[in-house]
Amino acid sequence: MPKKRVAILISGRGSNMVALIDAAKGIDFPAEIALVVSNEPAAQGLERARAAGIATAVVDHRPYGTDRAGFERALQTAIAPHGIDLICLAGFMRLLTPWFIGQWERRLLNIHPALLPAFKGLDTHARAIAAGAKQHGATVHFVVPEMDSGPIIVQEAVPVLPDDTEATLGARVLAAEHRIYPQALRMVAEGRAAESR
Ligand code: GRF
Repeated sequence: MPKKRVAILISGRGSNMVALIDAAKGIDFPAEIALVVSNEPAAQGLERARAAGIATAVVDHRPYGTDRAGFERALQTAIAPHGIDLICLAGFMRLLTPWFIGQWERRLLNIHPALLPAFKGLDTHARAIAAGAKQHGATVHFVVPEMDSGPIIVQEAVPVLPDDTEATLGARVLAAEHRIYPQALRMVAEGRAAESR
C-alpha cells in the first residue's frame, strides 16, 4: 500500500504537527507528511516544518477579510499540486465552511484539547477546572460543519489534579494530544477508523 499523503494545517507553534512528523518517520507508518500550510505567516510551526525538510505554504487569511470562500479557494489551490489524501488540522485557528469540509469528507481530521462532547470551543482547560471536572483529555475526530463535532477517532483521558492550573493541566493534555494524533492518523490511513456514527 502506498503511504497516504498528508497536509497539516497550522496557525501557531505546531507541536502536534511535530508529533505527526516524528511518527511519520517510522518506516511502517502508513502516511507521510507532504505539506504544511499556515494561515499565519509568522507561525513558529513553519520554521519547524522547514527544518524537517517538509514543503510549506502560507495562505494568509487577512487579505480575504470576511471572504471565507475566497480564503478557502486559495487554501485548496495551495494544497492541490501536492496530491494530498488526508488533511490534519493541528492548532489551525480558522473555522472552515461546509464547502471546504465537503471537499474533504472523512479525510479531514482535527484535534481538540478536551474530551468531546465536553468543552467544545476555546479555553477548555480553564473551563474544565472551573467545572470541577475530575477528568479531562484530548480528542481526535473527523471534521463536520458543526464545530468540534463529528465522529470521534481516538480519545485519551487525563486526571484533573487538585492543584492544577490551566498551565499544568494544559501540559498534561498536550502530552496526550501528541500520543493520540499519530494513533488516529495511523487508523485513518489504514482505513481502520469509524466511518459512520
Ligand atoms: C492544541 O492544544 C490543539 O488541541 C488546539 O490548539 C493547540 C495547538 O497546539 N486545537 P500546537 O500548535 O499543536 O502546539
